[in-house]
Amino acid sequence: MLRRWTTGIVAGVVSIGVAAAVERSVEVVHWWTSGSEAAALNVLKEDMQKRGYSWKSSPIAGGGGGQARVVLRARMAAGTPPDAMQMLGFTIVDYANEGLLGDLSGVAAKEGWDRVVPAPLQRFSKDRRGHWVAAPMNIHRTNWIWANKAIFDELKISPPKTFDELMAISARIRQAGYIPLAHGGQAWQEATLFDSAVMSAGGPDFYRKAMIDLDAKALGSPTMEKAFEQMKKLRTLVDPDFAGRDWDAATAMVINKKAAMQIMGDWAKGEFLKAGMQPNVDFLCFQYPGTEGDFIFNADQFAMSNPRRIWPFAKSAVLVEPQGQQNREEQLVAQTELASAILDPSFQEAFSLIKGSIPARTDVPDARFDLCGKKSMADLKMAIKSNTMVGSFAHGHAMPESVKEAVYVVVSRAFNSDGSSADAVKQLVRVVRAAK
Ligand code: GAL
Repeated sequence: MLRRWTTGIVAGVVSIGVAAAVERSVEVVHWWTSGSEAAALNVLKEDMQKRGYSWKSSPIAGGGGGQARVVLRARMAAGTPPDAMQMLGFTIVDYANEGLLGDLSGVAAKEGWDRVVPAPLQRFSKDRRGHWVAAPMNIHRTNWIWANKAIFDELKISPPKTFDELMAISARIRQAGYIPLAHGGQAWQEATLFDSAVMSAGGPDFYRKAMIDLDAKALGSPTMEKAFEQMKKLRTLVDPDFAGRDWDAATAMVINKKAAMQIMGDWAKGEFLKAGMQPNVDFLCFQYPGTEGDFIFNADQFAMSNPRRIWPFAKSAVLVEPQGQQNREEQLVAQTELASAILDPSFQEAFSLIKGSIPARTDVPDARFDLCGKKSMADLKMAIKSNTMVGSFAHGHAMPESVKEAVYVVVSRAFNSDGSSADAVKQLVRVVRAAK
């Protein structure tokens, strides 16, 4: 909260009417708890401190943000929202349409966000009236594979161009005593594999039809069966202890040469860099076979709680009017400052260089990015041009949250059971029809 008053001070203000010391601060809810995530967020903390705000970080552990979303809902229901919160895709639009988010249209217009943020991402930054309600921090891509280069060199293998090649090199990796695929058995991580499998099986048009348009024919097609087939094969490449493993623990297996590859969004790159490793020297980055050039995006955004709404138990509400009102105005100023800091081109660059992502603004030069970053930026440009920049199902940018949760269950069940791919396809069609 912007003006933090202790209960004692508040009582003093009310009774004797003397102004108390004011501390400007912002509270931010997020799920960035891995080493590289925390380091990247620190850039924003320092920027806000330079702008005169103290920073209250409220991390909710759990990659992918599942737990954070639950906590956020509870805080909203309790009337104690933070000033700002990390959010993805459809969640933002849902919250905005419920009137829970602040309007950032003023700062967005002043700074020309419309001109620099790609349209497929803007779709998740605005409410149904077209008002900006979230500040995009970055663009991640989910259809990546991260590999330990020493293992690839030792076995004289190169990045696979087809799924069959992926299976063939995996057999050699296993023979040499390494785990082919580092994986964390959590629903969102399995869903992340599925993003790539669907794209690989059918390409961007199919991906859009099935995962975004939720077209029943595409969902029930032999192409979708192929995607589930890939999932089942990937399942054979993991070690026995994968259940419940966090994504960064899986990345560490590749870093420590226990496992050869991980299929994960480019936040994994942040962990390699944090460990002092360099692309093409210590680790490799390449697209999941069959998805070369395709761009499945996930973008982190910060949305602001609506300062105009009455939050019965928010700290500001303990102040009697007119201070309470003024407090809300100050919150608005702080949120605008935060949004502006996020869209600042030099922040966008500095943050993504640590996080592994690329900037959400398309006007940031690629000069300081490594070859994986440069490739992502070039592929994104092409994908925007050809209208094939598609949102990640796993990370909430393809289908509404309730449908996504239902599909998560089907995908995880398919990955973790011996059922047939044909059955998985049938379940998929059924749950999407019911959840839509
Ligand atoms: C995603 C988020 C990424 C990354 C990942 C793992 O949902 O968008 O920025 O942090 O979770 O925690």
